[in-house]
Amino acid sequence: MTAPLLDIHLTDDDLTTALRTDARTGLTAEPKSLPPKWFYDARGSELFERITELPEYYPTRTERALLAGVVGEIAAAAHPEVLVELGSGSAAKTRLLLDALTAEGSLKTYVPQDVSASALRGAAEQIATEYPNLAVHGVVSDFTATLHNLPRGGRRMIAFLGGTIGNLVPAERAEFLADINEVLEPGELLLLGAGLVIDPAILVPAYDDAAGVTAEFNRNVLHVLNHRLGADFAPEKFEHIAVWDPDNEWIEMRLRATEPITATIDDLDLTVDFAAGEQMRTEISAKFRPEALRTELTTAGFAPTHTWTDPDARFALFLAERR
Ligand code: SAH
Ligand code: AVI
Repeated sequence: MTAPLLDIHLTDDDLTTALRTDARTGLTAEPKSLPPKWFYDARGSELFERITELPEYYPTRTERALLAGVVGEIAAAAHPEVLVELGSGSAAKTRLLLDALTAEGSLKTYVPQDVSASALRGAAEQIATEYPNLAVHGVVSDFTATLHNLPRGGRRMIAFLGGTIGNLVPAERAEFLADINEVLEPGELLLLGAGLVIDPAILVPAYDDAAGVTAEFNRNVLHVLNHRLGADFAPEKFEHIAVWDPDNEWIEMRLRATEPITATIDDLDLTVDFAAGEQMRTEISAKFRPEALRTELTTAGFAPTHTWTDPDARFALFLAERR
């Protein structure tokens, strides 16, 4: 195996600096909130992998089945030389794409990108072993900040799978899509996976599973604050909440203080009070209507060319060309 190249554009120190800013802003705001990227240390990435196997969590298996059915069409329409995958995580579903794109013959390079160095390293090494003819070039970075650091050269397709687009608030999402558009050359492609608006009776359990794995994933942000910023949160004193917001059409995950809590964050010289019952938003997971998401893609400078949806209309894949 050729060892995969790994570019680190986000060091441990950079992460701590960024978390300091987000924690100070989010924990002193009213209501309190934290961005979801802070779930993903090594433990958080492992918990996410466990979520993808839960019976209630339909998105991963639905997207996998959908991809399996349409990768041939994607390969024929896209024939990229470089596949860049943002927020690649374990890249478990990506094998379907890599198989189709290498069979089609055009693909030379795979560029997985993630904020979680542990997940990225594991995925890059495994894929380099499984696909010896592919150059694997991993990038540790924040996709909301440093897309310009992605390697260039060769006709690219950027894949953003899993519905992670829904974890960005609408203003961030618009900026992110515009940034991707700016990074690409005309004719290059975006493959986007997104969860669709469905019955809340299916959606809510997907974010509040019986085994409590999502609850542990949600509370992991408190472990991250403890480890990285010397905070003293007692995670077990926070309850996991997942609610469907019908106006915004997103699932909102929150942590609710079960009693009055005072936490100290040493690194910030900050003390934070939670009243009993106070809720802090830790994630949104927006669900989409295909027509509206195609309009967002068009506004960002893309021409959507294909939309594929699973038979139950729970998840969609969009292929869009940079105009
Ligand atoms: N694409 C995979 C993983 C989805 S989980 C799948 O479909 O299953 C979301 C992934 O995005 C995690 O691996 C997480 O570490 C990464 N991530 C979240 N916010 C990020 C950010 N701002 N920059 C880069 N990666 C991010
Ligand atoms: C990564 N992202 C698409 C997941 C989601 O479904 O929004 C994160 C997640 N949150 C709770 N469960 C899974």
